[in-house]
Amino acid sequence: MSFDLVLFGGTGDLAWRKLMPALFQAFRHGTLPPGGRIIGVARDDLSDAQYRELMAERAGRVELAKRPTAEEFTQFGAMLHYLRMDLSQPADYARLAALVSERHADSLVMYLATAPALFTSVAEQIGAAGLNGPTTRIVLEKPLGHDLQSNRTINALLRTVLKEDQIFRIDHYLGKPSVQNLFALRFGNSLFEPLWRRETIANIQITIAEDLGVETRGAFYDQTGALRDMVQNHALQLLCAIGMEPPINASASAIRDEKLKVLQSLKPWTPETLAHHVVRGRYTAGTVNGRAVPGYLEEAGVAPTSTTETFVALRTEIANWRWAGVPFYIRTGKRLAGRDAHIAINFRPVPHPIFRTPSGATNRLVINLQPKDGLELQLLSQSASQHQAEPALSQVSLDLDFDQRFGAERVGAYERLLLDVIAGRLNLFVRSDEQEEAWRWVEPILQHWRNDPTGPRPYAAGSWGPSAASAMIAREGHCWSEEV
Ligand code: BG6
Repeated sequence: MSFDLVLFGGTGDLAWRKLMPALFQAFRHGTLPPGGRIIGVARDDLSDAQYRELMAERAGRVELAKRPTAEEFTQFGAMLHYLRMDLSQPADYARLAALVSERHADSLVMYLATAPALFTSVAEQIGAAGLNGPTTRIVLEKPLGHDLQSNRTINALLRTVLKEDQIFRIDHYLGKPSVQNLFALRFGNSLFEPLWRRETIANIQITIAEDLGVETRGAFYDQTGALRDMVQNHALQLLCAIGMEPPINASASAIRDEKLKVLQSLKPWTPETLAHHVVRGRYTAGTVNGRAVPGYLEEAGVAPTSTTETFVALRTEIANWRWAGVPFYIRTGKRLAGRDAHIAINFRPVPHPIFRTPSGATNRLVINLQPKDGLELQLLSQSASQHQAEPALSQVSLDLDFDQRFGAERVGAYERLLLDVIAGRLNLFVRSDEQEEAWRWVEPILQHWRNDPTGPRPYAAGSWGPSAASAMIAREGHCWSEEV
């Protein structure tokens, strides 16, 4: 299959950090269709050769499992082209149209790795230049809007240019190998399905902790905050993957229909739950991985009067027959004690204990997303090495480390998602109705915060967030998974 992949923002941070390395890995794995063109687009005045040199220079800075050889660089570099464009100029889109019409590739991908503010105008210009034929696919990074209304406006405009099945809204968490495995675990095995419900599960915790701060993105982040940056998209997509019913088949529409139902079933917020089931925080100076780091308000680009949150913890429920009453806890934040993304499914304790067990110990299934990628099933077991008059159980873990099992050079999130776009597979992309539903659900929280003068709660960089997050979950007799 031939393809042209046009990378708007072709000299930007996302292109160098994520997209080029992912395309290179696909090339190395032999999965990138041969003979494709990757056309970088930006304002800089560069030739194809200079763009290739820049790629080779930047490649030295990113982490790849294996350094590229000179021959690999040359072969991959031959796929790279460059077009200087001013994205406000219709004539420049006409030049792009002329370039891609040279060969009418089977798949024409327009990847908008640009500032989100440009999405609608670029999409309009793509349409005006006639670049919106049936083989065109447009890829949009988040955030798509900053609230429900702005998201609807963008989606409505996109649909005037392209059909819904030509629009690929990327959520890179859906491309992570462990999230793929979550679908496999749930819908490829019969073992867990009978247990996957309120009768057996006490609570579910989704943690996405980062040790990084806002890095060079202070100005962007200050307008966004953790709720919009991580919860509205990544965390809710994980919640959908855990909570959804088995789809009727593995097609994109069947999967997305089921995810949509989960989002529609999220318990609506009330003044009471907004006050007690949502905690927002903001880091102050502290120590992360042994290094002193400044507080959020000292970061470059952050307004001194900012009320933006860098941490959110919340509790919600999926109001349906399978999950009624089961708390789903979500927690995410920057500058926390470590980089740790995992989902913990905590099963109920046995109804009538006859053994001594450590306090709080129950069965738990942990789906590790990063830094480790794997599954842990925690069981209670008796040690064979000790003779005890009164049997006591301790927690042991069945551990499946996917890197060890399948090799460290596995297909990364962006690599998988880019190959899916080229092939036109929509399964791992977010449909407009899902996205709107997710915005609808977070809006009352944003509204509540706007009217709440107390602002975010402080937490020291390098901690696990404000103590109110632990108090929230402790009120229901639970604790966060890393505190067990
Ligand atoms: C992005 C957010 O979507 O996800 C970033 O905008 C965040 O703020 C990143 O750091 C986290 O992704 P990952 O894959 O490193 O967990």
